[in-house]
Amino acid sequence: MKIFAYGIRLDEQPVLEQWGKEHSEVTVDFTDQLLTDKSAAMAKGYDAINVYQQLPYSRATFEALSNQGIHIMAMRNIGIDNLDLKAAKEFNFKISNTPAYSPNSVAEHAAIQMARLFRRTPEMDAKVQNYDLRWAPTIGKEMRQQTIGIIGTGRIGRVLIKILQGFGSKVIAYDCYHNSEIEKEGLYVDSLDDLYRLSDGISLHVPAVSENFHMINDASIAKMKDHVIIVNDSRGELVDTDALIKGLDSGKISAFATDVYEKEVGIFNKDWSNKTFPDSRLKNLIDRPNVLLTPHTAFYTETAVSAMVNESLNADLSFLNGKQPASALKF
Ligand code: COI
Repeated sequence: MKIFAYGIRLDEQPVLEQWGKEHSEVTVDFTDQLLTDKSAAMAKGYDAINVYQQLPYSRATFEALSNQGIHIMAMRNIGIDNLDLKAAKEFNFKISNTPAYSPNSVAEHAAIQMARLFRRTPEMDAKVQNYDLRWAPTIGKEMRQQTIGIIGTGRIGRVLIKILQGFGSKVIAYDCYHNSEIEKEGLYVDSLDDLYRLSDGISLHVPAVSENFHMINDASIAKMKDHVIIVNDSRGELVDTDALIKGLDSGKISAFATDVYEKEVGIFNKDWSNKTFPDSRLKNLIDRPNVLLTPHTAFYTETAVSAMVNESLNADLSFLNGKQPASALKF
């Protein structure tokens, strides 16, 4: 059995090689190149591929893979919004994702960014870097006195709720699918409007689907508390960047942390330090002292990376053995 892995980074390589050693019945080869309709040719002669979400996987990509005889794809990540599932079905693909590689990786990151913004540590850090050691006016707010609204109570949202409760924050939540534990705790509000009205801080933890495209927009921002803080460690498509910039300009939004950007493909995970930065709206955000940007690295911990590689290769192997991995997508 032969698996070909795309987009393997230096940090993933040792995990992948170790998995190969522990599964001598499987040959695992890899490239650092990302999967496209062109690089699909590299998978010729393999039985399955292993990928992670970076570029859109279009009909052309599924067709090219299918032409190489590939119909099994395990994704090392959670999000599936880059997949043309109609095409995947047309070309008879079996696909899995890795939904539980480490919810704590993203939840911790969101909590840290939220706390940094309420305590204004990024602004204080910037002053200190400039040898300005004055206190005022960079005064913070205590987490225990904030109401934090969590949108999305899947694995990540639920870990974040626990972390925030540890700070003593009052946590409220909204999700169209209710989790029984969160329900038992009485954290759900009836509507997003209620969550917007009541929250001092809002954290987004939902997948990108057509129904929630630009859910953070002029109208929803208008419903929020004045000086709200927003954290987006989910997907860039959830936030209308123009509306966000307006909200930051007016002070309605006092601070924003994001790990994602609606046009991030081709910009993130590249070094722009000596080049012209390609996106003026993203530059506008980066240049603000009250905006924190991380380049889609909320997930990026040793624990998460190891689980992403191991669990996705296990899923490839299950498919190859004619079984359904628990994380097989239904489409
Ligand atoms: C995900 O797991 O969906 C992420 O956003 C992480 C990234 C490696 C694609």
